[in-house]
Amino acid sequence: NWTMNDFIDLQIQHIRETVGDKKVLLGLSGGVDSSVVGVLLHKAIGTQLTSIFVDHGLLRKNEADQVMDSLAGKFGLNIIKVDAQERFLSKLKGVTDPEKKRKIIGNEFIQVFNDEARKLHGIDFLAQGTLYTDVVESGTDTAQTIKSHHNVGGLPKDMKFKLIEPLNKLFKDEAREIGEKLGMPDALVWRQPFPGPGLGIRVLGEVTKDKLRIVRDSDAILRDEIAKNGLERKVWQYFTVLPGFKSVGVMGDGRTYDYTVAIRAVNSVDGMTADFARLPWDVLQQISVRIVNEVDGVNRIVYDVTSKPPSTIEWE
Ligand code: XMP
Repeated sequence: NWTMNDFIDLQIQHIRETVGDKKVLLGLSGGVDSSVVGVLLHKAIGTQLTSIFVDHGLLRKNEADQVMDSLAGKFGLNIIKVDAQERFLSKLKGVTDPEKKRKIIGNEFIQVFNDEARKLHGIDFLAQGTLYTDVVESGTDTAQTIKSHHNVGGLPKDMKFKLIEPLNKLFKDEAREIGEKLGMPDALVWRQPFPGPGLGIRVLGEVTKDKLRIVRDSDAILRDEIAKNGLERKVWQYFTVLPGFKSVGVMGDGRTYDYTVAIRAVNSVDGMTADFARLPWDVLQQISVRIVNEVDGVNRIVYDVTSKPPSTIEWE
């Protein structure tokens, strides 16, 4: 009948014994799992841990800064942050097919990670935030694959690491509990699910800088209003989508021809099925008014009232 505190102590001991005086590499995504592993490892082996955080430019507003402020700033992890937005944008130029976009983002992510990893020397271990559910889902052969939230991966043959996966017997809620016990902020521990390809699949069709701005800024307003209204833990996942078409509107005494932004908010247990969230009308109204007023190029807001199935949670 062990507690999470026992778990943390045991893991720290185990990690120290396994690693000895060797060095460990960790890929940080900004998500719960890899962040918890980062803080846990840092507690166990301090500066023997080096983390790589690839900012693909498809994260939510301020997300990269929050990760750095918290994990590097407050917890003192040694993090190599790679600003790769231009690299991703140029690869995505002209690409409209959702699965192609996913593949490109996933492959590029691994490439950027590998390019950085190759510059480091004397690393013996690769740490990953693999959860029990990931192990079950992906079968047995997790060795030498980067648990990628992109579901692609693999390390080049010349990079041989031993794997460390301290969370691979835990479920998500237990990983969160560990995070809380380790003193991590709510914003990190209670982060809603966020897809690896990020905002790249919330701008439908071709991804451009300006469309990313619209989806990022509108999403920030949505999250702000959800938080202000105390709904953060009551809605499982919520975000905005830019379908990419324009429609006619009127502002002041002029006619506008601008983008429509869709709001998606769902409740779910595991993402396999989902029900659209019954957000209060007045909250939806505040969100709508703010997005149209504050985000240039938007004149219409729609709310997605389909569940999964038949829809998916994401639009791509
Ligand atoms: P869908 O859209 O398939 O989403 O109903 C179910 C859950 O999975 C997330 N999702 C992804 N996560 N890579 C990820 O890591 C992906 O390519 C991806 N696509 C969807 C989605 O946000 C939802 O929580």
